[in-house]
Amino acid sequence: MNKNITVIVGTKWGDEGKGKIASREAENAKLVIRATGGNNAGHTIIYKGTSLPLHLVPGGISNPNAICIIGPGVVLDLEVLLSEIELLKNTGIPNIDERLKISGRAHVIFPYHKELDILYENMKKHPVGTTKRGIGPSYADKNNRTGIRMYDLLLPTDKLKEKIEEAIKPHNQLFKANNMEYAIADAKSLAKEYHLLGKKLEKYITDISPIILDAIDNNEKIVVEGAQAFRLDLDHGDYPMVTSSNPVVSGTLCGAALPPQALNVVIGVDKAYNSRVGNGPFPTELPASIDENGNVIKDAVPLEGDIVRDLGHEYGTTTKRPRRCGWMDCPILHSAKYTSGIDYLCLNHLDTLGQIGLKLGYIKVCTSYKYKGKVINYYPDDINLSGEIPEPIYETLQGGWEIDSSCKNYSELPDLAKKFVEIVEKASGIPVKYLGTGPANDDLIVREDI
Ligand code: IMP
Repeated sequence: MNKNITVIVGTKWGDEGKGKIASREAENAKLVIRATGGNNAGHTIIYKGTSLPLHLVPGGISNPNAICIIGPGVVLDLEVLLSEIELLKNTGIPNIDERLKISGRAHVIFPYHKELDILYENMKKHPVGTTKRGIGPSYADKNNRTGIRMYDLLLPTDKLKEKIEEAIKPHNQLFKANNMEYAIADAKSLAKEYHLLGKKLEKYITDISPIILDAIDNNEKIVVEGAQAFRLDLDHGDYPMVTSSNPVVSGTLCGAALPPQALNVVIGVDKAYNSRVGNGPFPTELPASIDENGNVIKDAVPLEGDIVRDLGHEYGTTTKRPRRCGWMDCPILHSAKYTSGIDYLCLNHLDTLGQIGLKLGYIKVCTSYKYKGKVINYYPDDINLSGEIPEPIYETLQGGWEIDSSCKNYSELPDLAKKFVEIVEKASGIPVKYLGTGPANDDLIVREDI
């Protein structure tokens, strides 16, 4: 079988800047596929100077020759999808109708999923801190075999109504028991509304397998744009503080309907410092003046975490929530290398880390952990909310650096920045092939020798 699939995955908790390397890889791709999650993810693409915030359509859509697929592993909020398609068309991106393909097997997010997301979070003693986009409840219905797929929307409305009726029975009982009459779903009106939405999207809804078979047989390049990240994976992340899909490479291949034998290369993406939204363990987190809901406490003295957040503009693309920030964590990268088979790393925000170092006077890199009395170089499986969080063991670099996008070669980097990269490579066991030096797509150093 031809091996021409490139998979791009996040190595921490999302927001690593996957879009930059994804755009680069998509430039010569025939197929660009989104495989997991829904509009809990967010990435911004730049098309002829206009920046376009996308949540569902693969960023590869800016390549006029690429076919962009939303795979069966994705859950879709149709209003969001339709407004993205409109935005892309209004921006003048060519041939959207011919190039966008949506798997008929992808599941639909309904308004009741969003209400359930809020309700489940409110019921929990330790909420996950979800994006409240209905992602988890939609996947739960999928697993319960009561989910509604894109193909279902094209059924006659009485057939669709029957399916929705089945899906909403337990949800409506729950809404009633919690005095949420406003959330009670009506199958008849939903069937009518969603059949119409399905009709609007009909030209994109298709069986994606022949497109994929064709591309593999013709040795065309296929790029999978991963969403979310390793530590948010349902099976391999910080359960229960995770999302409800599998963003590790094996999960993305399944969600994109791709055979593992056709895999060519896996690029893991990280930032030179780390960040997280939502709750859950974050061993290298720095203290910051944000409250338990993620709001910045005004007038508080800026702490290390605030400085990193402000220099990195770490506020969620999707929810605008201030992100928790911390130092680079290599044991997680080391674990990600094996769980996802990562060949190369792309480290973004090397410029920002230099600024952080200049402001604080130092930069730290976590190279291993102290955990349960032992020194370990991987992320332990048995961490939970009340459990012990691994204690980072740091290497410290004194000072920082100033670089900008004019720096295009690794050899031009300041020695301290190179030292940082060497520490990450040694501790993670992954070669750093790409380094982000600024916000634009071409603010990137590519080490061709790796
Ligand atoms: P959910 O995916 O909305 O259920 O949220 C579960 C957890 O995953 C929350 O902590 C979210 O903030 C986080 N999450 C989900 N998608 C992303 C993403 O694309 N980037 C960063 N965090 C995410």
